Amino acid sequence: MSQDKQTDKPWGGRFSEPTDAFVERFTASVSFDQRLYQVDIAGSIAHATMLGNTGILSKEEATQIVKGLEAIRDEITSGDFEWSISLEDVHMNIESALIAKIGDVGKKLHTGRSRNDQVATDIRLYLRSEIDSLSEAIRQVQKGIVNLAENETETIMPGFTHLQTAQPISFAHHLMAWYEMLQRDYERMQDCRKRVNICPLGAAALAGTAFPVDRHMTAELLGFDKPAANSLDAVSDRDFAIEFCAAASLVMTHLSRISEELVIWTSAQFDFIELPDRFCTGSSIMPQKKNPDVPELVRGKTGRVYGHLVSLLTLMKAQPLAYNKDNQEDKEPLFDTLDTVNDCLKAFANMIPAIKSKGCNMRDAALKGFSTATDLADYLVRKGTAFRDAHEVVGKAVAFGIIEGKDLSEMTLAELQNFSSDIEDDVFAVLTVEGSLAARNHIGGTASEQVSQAIATAKKNFK
Ligand code: ARG
Repeated sequence: MSQDKQTDKPWGGRFSEPTDAFVERFTASVSFDQRLYQVDIAGSIAHATMLGNTGILSKEEATQIVKGLEAIRDEITSGDFEWSISLEDVHMNIESALIAKIGDVGKKLHTGRSRNDQVATDIRLYLRSEIDSLSEAIRQVQKGIVNLAENETETIMPGFTHLQTAQPISFAHHLMAWYEMLQRDYERMQDCRKRVNICPLGAAALAGTAFPVDRHMTAELLGFDKPAANSLDAVSDRDFAIEFCAAASLVMTHLSRISEELVIWTSAQFDFIELPDRFCTGSSIMPQKKNPDVPELVRGKTGRVYGHLVSLLTLMKAQPLAYNKDNQEDKEPLFDTLDTVNDCLKAFANMIPAIKSKGCNMRDAALKGFSTATDLADYLVRKGTAFRDAHEVVGKAVAFGIIEGKDLSEMTLAELQNFSSDIEDDVFAVLTVEGSLAARNHIGGTASEQVSQAIATAKKNFK
């Protein structure tokens, strides 16, 4: 820095007094954007390489810059780097360190570039690799679910609507519904990745650059699918991060719904499953307690991820083109979304395979609540009664059962025949929970043959 400068900022030339100390802290992002250092340096290396290959810088200069950047990356990785708030953000911290390390040639790195295209590139690179690891984490949870389901195709439980007993299903069928929810989440991540993987470099501040940059080269060096088509759009929009947070919110919606079921099922009133002690905690006052804290916390953390989505939507909504400093606020919501979803998926990947089903309790529950009432109605339809009339007949039989304290399968043939003379001895086969399951033997149905098929399809999908 020259002696007569009033500020030590890389942009300080036109300033006549130092930045106010509060403003310095208020505008700095280095405390949270330093996690971008790897991708920031990767982006700078690609940019410098392109500058060297196009003759904008000499090969020699580009090589010096690349070597310097690599050395700085190692220093940061080994904890040997001092971040400075007065250098505002990750980009200027690294650029200043480069100049300190390799001298004046370091000042040439920023040729044909702005922090605006730099930061947009960084976030995209960072998010791309996070999407890849998050997708893999979704896969791990799915694998746990499918492995669990494999042993549960004959385990009968009540299926619910309105949390009231509806019809018997297999536990595996329920588990495979979770698999499908997560499969869409996985696909959404893959789809979102396509719009993340576009390279802003070369857009510079907003209008592009007067240097003969090769945007295809930088895009290719960084593994992007292509350069962004419009320079204003490239530096300003964060819709790709919003889209990711929307997809992440749906992951959390699904994890939260699953959590809710785990919480209900581990209660003494349901007692359908057991979670191992290592995923639960106790109460400081009630000695008998074993609380499903992990699923509860996942359910709770869903709220903050939704909050981050709304933060980013609101951040973007009134920004005129192109870059505005508002966009610096994109990072914390995005990073916390990534951290939260990763942790929740990790918790699930560990917890799901450890679930122990209590098949007897599930079956007992399926026997309560007239879960085969629809089967009786269907039976009457097959004997020639119209469905609406059959519904009425079975409703009357259920009312009788409630008074007598008997399930449909526990009534005598004579009792059943009071409601319809079409009922014959063969009725009892359809009134069992096993019969009810077996009858739903079509694609997507709960019959064990179909669920096994769904499991096999899922396993192929993992390959
Ligand atoms: N720290 C800034 C951000 O995160 C980098 C871009 C700054 N650009 C600027 N024109 N002030 O958005």
